[in-house]
Amino acid sequence: MCGIVGYTGFRDAYDVVINGLRRLEYRGYDSAGVILETEKGEFEVKKTKGKVDDLVAISKSLQSTSKIGMGHTRWATHGVPSDNNSHPHVSNNGKIAIVHNGIIENYDTIKTMLINKNFEFKSETDTEVLVNLIQYFMDKEPTLDFPEAVRYALNEVYGAYAVSVMHEDFPGQLVVARLGSPLAVGIGTDEYFVASDASPFVEFTKEAVYLEEGHMAIISLDSGIDIRTITENTKIEPAIQELKLNLEQIEKGGYEHFMLKEIFEQPKSILDTMRGRLLADEGIIKMAGIWDHLERLTNAERIIIIACGTSWHAGLIGEYLIEEFARVPVEVEYASEFRYRNPIISSKDVVIAISQSGETADTMAAIKLAKEKGAFVFGICNVVDSSISRYTDAGAYTHAGPEIGVASTKAFTAQLTILSLIAIKLGNHNGNLGKADFMRLITELEAIPKKVEDVLKTVDEAVKTIAKKFADATNFLYLGRGYNFPAALEGALKLKEISYIHAEGYPAAEMKHGPIALIDENMPIVIIAPKVGHYDKIVSNVQEIKARKGQVIAIINKGDTQVAAMADYIIEIPETSECFSPILASVPLQLLSYYIAVERGANVDQPRNLAKSVTVE
Ligand code: F6R
Repeated sequence: MCGIVGYTGFRDAYDVVINGLRRLEYRGYDSAGVILETEKGEFEVKKTKGKVDDLVAISKSLQSTSKIGMGHTRWATHGVPSDNNSHPHVSNNGKIAIVHNGIIENYDTIKTMLINKNFEFKSETDTEVLVNLIQYFMDKEPTLDFPEAVRYALNEVYGAYAVSVMHEDFPGQLVVARLGSPLAVGIGTDEYFVASDASPFVEFTKEAVYLEEGHMAIISLDSGIDIRTITENTKIEPAIQELKLNLEQIEKGGYEHFMLKEIFEQPKSILDTMRGRLLADEGIIKMAGIWDHLERLTNAERIIIIACGTSWHAGLIGEYLIEEFARVPVEVEYASEFRYRNPIISSKDVVIAISQSGETADTMAAIKLAKEKGAFVFGICNVVDSSISRYTDAGAYTHAGPEIGVASTKAFTAQLTILSLIAIKLGNHNGNLGKADFMRLITELEAIPKKVEDVLKTVDEAVKTIAKKFADATNFLYLGRGYNFPAALEGALKLKEISYIHAEGYPAAEMKHGPIALIDENMPIVIIAPKVGHYDKIVSNVQEIKARKGQVIAIINKGDTQVAAMADYIIEIPETSECFSPILASVPLQLLSYYIAVERGANVDQPRNLAKSVTVE
């Protein structure tokens, strides 16, 4: 949902900003812009509809030696992607410039007030309103300091923002602030970086300050970093952290796309998620995040899982896991529904919020609501120090490493891993899971990374063949039972997202209550059919599809002959316990959507209309 970058130091700001925007492009990629402050203290702005490459193409005339500047990559909220709606936005007097990630919800009222004071607007954005509100305060009170004017303006708006602002009359200064959208400040020697996450500056410095909610910072080479609260202007000491991120993690490492790299990273990311937590030989699950809260979790009247998209699919599998092993009742809700439907929730409930980015606006709002109602909130996030990870009462990181491809892959299997660990630990703690079952499960879970590696080594060719055959299909059906029903939903979502083919996921048994009407010889049906759970039932479902001439692509266990005999195409995965089978089945499903998207020439890492981190509702 938009990426912002800022720089002041000794390097050429243009290069730092453009490289930073490339790293942040996963956050939005419908427009891009850059602003530099020349040595004479004047602004130079270039912005365009399109990607960072389009921005570079129109930026040749920029004074590339400038040492301070800002940039923006946009995911449109107010106003279509267009040159005018692109950021940076500059105030009416041409002196103040802003880049913004978020939504100013009361922009309309402020815009009307400003129009009545003769302000004019070139764009349809909420951001142009904010920059003119800053000018309004400075016009009204000419002695007002620039950062104070920014603070006054921010106190008038509500919504979500991470902003970086510059003023021609206050050269060398960046004023940044955040509420609801993330913002990191990188602290180098004689240089400062500002960005939506640390990836734009990871090769320059390992020291960063993650701005807290409701804080702003005034940054300049002369005075360093001065952090204040937006409401009261109270001074805050910067909490400098050491970055764990490294450059290798955020580069493609020889793969054609980040998504492919991330799919192939899964043996390692799953292992990293278990590392230090699962000690199968010793029969121990050791999770610092839940250690102090075991009683609270196991004695919960209900566990409510809230999440969006792929994380919600992980939550559904979490429900099966926790109910099976810990016998605690679980409900799974879309965060966006939960937050607005006045849910019944009390201090006896535990809420588990799942979010790869840790920034999803709906999930964050649902957490706030749950906390207000007294629930204990446990977060499962991938991004360290993200808003959700800091706002929840306790939590566990997935440690999958940065996920840059917009379609979530390794974060999903890491979420399934952590949910498995939690469910098994809770069952072990409350006595619902006997010692033998506990040992069997953790031994099998420990074997999963190796089995994922086997899947990656063996299925590639079969999946590519299927992708070629069905790249022009207009519809797909994904079916699964039990634990693999949510895996079917996730498979369908992956295909929709990156190849733009309509796909639906269904519990296999529900097929006959509607979707069966769609089946004919042109309909590809992906059926997840490992030899676990109600395998015989899924065999019947395959027969029903074949009786209607549907094209069956079956994910089966190695050596299975029954489904293999009926299916048109098979993809073989190793055997595992039913509860872990979605992890293994998801890998070929991810590859299938990937190769189909590649066949169709789609932009795999940056699918249209999507963004990695949905910081607006
Ligand atoms: C799908 C995908 C989205 C996210 C959803 C929630 O591939 O990436 O559906 O899963 O936007 O995002 P997080 O997990 O960051 O809260």
